[in-house]
Amino acid sequence: MSTAPSSSKPSIAIFGATGGTGLAILKNSLAAGHNVSVLARTPSKLSSISSQYPDLLHVTQGDIHDNASIKRALVLNNRRVDIVISAVGMVLQFKGVKIVSPDPTICEVGTRNILSTLSELEAEVDQASNPSPVKPKLIIVSTTGISEKRDIPRAVSPFYHYGLAVPHADKKKMEDLVINSQWPWVLVRPSFLVDGPAKGLKSLRTGTETPAHKKEATHAIGYAIRREDVGLWIYEECVSSRGNWGEWAGKCVSLTY
Ligand SMILES: NC(=O)c1ccc[n+]([C@@H]2O[C@H](COP(=O)([O-])OP(=O)(O)OC[C@H]3O[C@@H](n4cnc5c(N)ncnc54)[C@H](OP(=O)(O)O)[C@@H]3O)[C@@H](O)[C@H]2O)c1
Repeated sequence: MSTAPSSSKPSIAIFGATGGTGLAILKNSLAAGHNVSVLARTPSKLSSISSQYPDLLHVTQGDIHDNASIKRALVLNNRRVDIVISAVGMVLQFKGVKIVSPDPTICEVGTRNILSTLSELEAEVDQASNPSPVKPKLIIVSTTGISEKRDIPRAVSPFYHYGLAVPHADKKKMEDLVINSQWPWVLVRPSFLVDGPAKGLKSLRTGTETPAHKKEATHAIGYAIRREDVGLWIYEECVSSRGNWGEWAGKCVSLTY
């Protein structure tokens, strides 16, 4: 559990910050002056950004399968963080025509671990000194292609439904956990992720789905989006005080160009 300089901005924990999208969220958050706690299997992947933001970035070495590490990452200055973000994803491998993974339930299991650790921390809150603690906001990166209503171009439907069956089954279970949790949440569903510099918020289209009204979903259908733009959108719309948390909370948001 790290100590951090006091900041009036909400504190953030990011899981998956060494990956493309998570790193983009991390960079936006640090540049805006937030205290950020990160759980990383290999902290050295973040050494350059750590030296740029030695006071704001707090890295805990650990794995999302380990609740003790998660707990350390969810606490800054003896306080549970205000915002919890996960961009954890699985490694995919081709096995003939099938795509498989050495860790095919990483998003479900990792999210379950984060949620149960948050509940554990909630139970530890000193009710006498803090009778109504603010609930942490959850922002979890999911994917397009798992909605009951088509949210991907027809041309890529077969690949999404058959090729990506393993990661998508995992993401569906992860989404159910988040939707049924006790915390306020946003599920972000990007289209196919590619690298490259951010094009900016004006280049993005969003669509939304509310779990209770799935048939009325208004999806943004597109082929791809850069990881940098997903990170930018998450920071600007869901984290920043300039954003629109109230508009996105409780929704699955599809994001594409
Ligand atoms: N690829 C696509 O086209 C696509 C489309 C839509 C949505 N998505 C989803 O978007 C999200 C971001 O994707 P991305 O490509 O930017 O991610 P990525 O580069 O694959 O990064 C994945 C992150 O998860 C971390 N991670 C994996 N296993 C972990 C474990 N056991 N413990 C702790 N951390 C672990 C990785 O850490 P290490 O650095 O230690 O490996 C890394 O930081 C993922 O959830 C992905 O499923 C992907």
